[in-house]
Amino acid sequence: MKYVVGVDLGTSAVKILLVNQNGEITQEVSKSYPLIQEKTGYSEQDPQVWVDQTVEGLSDLVRNFQGDITDIEGISFSGQMHGLVLLDENNVPLRNAILWNDTRTTEQCKQIYENVGEETLLQITKNPALEGFTLPKILWVKQYEPEVFEKAESFVLPKDYLRYKLTGQLQMEYSDAAGTLLLDIGKKQWSQEICDRVGIDVSLCVPLVESHDKVGTLTAEVVEKTGLSESTGVFAGGADNACGAIGSGILEEGKTLCSIGTSGVVLSYEESDDKDFQGKVHYFNHGAENVYYTMGVTLAAGYSLSWFKDVFAKDESFDELLEGVEKVPAGANGLLFTPYLAGERTPHADAAIRASFVGMDSSHKRIDFVRSVLEGITFSLNESIDIFRKNGKTIDTIVSIGGGAQNETWLQMQADIFDAKIVRLASEQGPGMGAAMLAAYGSGWFNSLKECADSFLKEDKEYVPNKENTETYKELFALYQDVYKDTKSLNENLVKFRK
Ligand code: XUL
Repeated sequence: MKYVVGVDLGTSAVKILLVNQNGEITQEVSKSYPLIQEKTGYSEQDPQVWVDQTVEGLSDLVRNFQGDITDIEGISFSGQMHGLVLLDENNVPLRNAILWNDTRTTEQCKQIYENVGEETLLQITKNPALEGFTLPKILWVKQYEPEVFEKAESFVLPKDYLRYKLTGQLQMEYSDAAGTLLLDIGKKQWSQEICDRVGIDVSLCVPLVESHDKVGTLTAEVVEKTGLSESTGVFAGGADNACGAIGSGILEEGKTLCSIGTSGVVLSYEESDDKDFQGKVHYFNHGAENVYYTMGVTLAAGYSLSWFKDVFAKDESFDELLEGVEKVPAGANGLLFTPYLAGERTPHADAAIRASFVGMDSSHKRIDFVRSVLEGITFSLNESIDIFRKNGKTIDTIVSIGGGAQNETWLQMQADIFDAKIVRLASEQGPGMGAAMLAAYGSGWFNSLKECADSFLKEDKEYVPNKENTETYKELFALYQDVYKDTKSLNENLVKFRK
């Protein structure tokens, strides 16, 4: 039996999957690492920790592997998007990585609009200037840490740095490069024009490859540390959302994904780069060649629930926290939550906004709060679905993966709030599976990613909207949308009190 490895370099942990030729997961290893948050709005990680934890995870996997090590034919990657890893002339990181959920760069986003122009930026990158994207982070380092920036020879994204440390080869691939704001996503090349207008040298941008391209093999040092074979092919991989889409079979027009991890996304396949969503949703290159996806992002999706658990139920499991949530009626007995714990992306690109509970009543129990957190996260994702629908897309069936697919009540809630059929996959591993599929396709096991998806992915269960709840949620969604408008200036005035 032959195998491939999918490495998903996430925000809280690296998850490694061993997948056989039938698409079955035969091993799963996870190694966690912390966020470094020195100030409100800051979010960093030490790139070396990603590498150490991945190498340790890979050697655990090899230790438990019964077969012939050369049967592991390929390895590929999925990675948290947008994080800036700035490298010196020897490809050594010059500082901690600044992550996708770091919101310190509002000033640099304004500078990008001033220097590039909103229209030109949208035309070339198909996306607006958002704090989470990579270019504002580069400009922040240039402005506030000039002595660091002076030494910068190149930059890469988190999983590209990891792959570099495993192979010695430095590249980026299109699906992640699309989230930098420096890629001409239609032409699939770095934009000289944007670099010139913001005053950075295009030579900072490393060579581009396709997600399924074989970029090399493991270095002798990594072979020794992990026990993997020097014959294992290393394939470029993709952005976690692109890989989540591949790993859920979002590989043809009409397919939509809802993925709830730390962040939450609603993502829809796009055949071409010529649709116009006026920058309201992100528009990125897919991990499949020459196609795209559009996507709305809720910054604190699963993170809202884990925040709630950490603050109010630290010693309980998620199952304990969620116990009885199905008994609370739709609408959480009049309690509304907006999940803006870290600002928001879609539809409000707003780094200053913060979360609210509205309508607290002395009769509310903790479980009402839990239900309202789940509903608030789901309402937020529904804002993206609303934009897709208003732009003419038909969204009637959605594959749900991640934390949101672990709980039956939440799956039904998604069907009711999205007013669409929700599909749960038999073995849903989203990004890690997508990475493994890129390695499988790259290794020549299939003629296309679609063929691989047809062979590897199976449907498990469907959830259809409950008419009564759908009506209730339609009314509540309108109220939910008001909370942003009504708390926007309040939150702007609170900014100076945040430490
Ligand atoms: C997407 C985004 C997040 C990260 C999470 O634009 O910022 O979904 O990719 O890892």
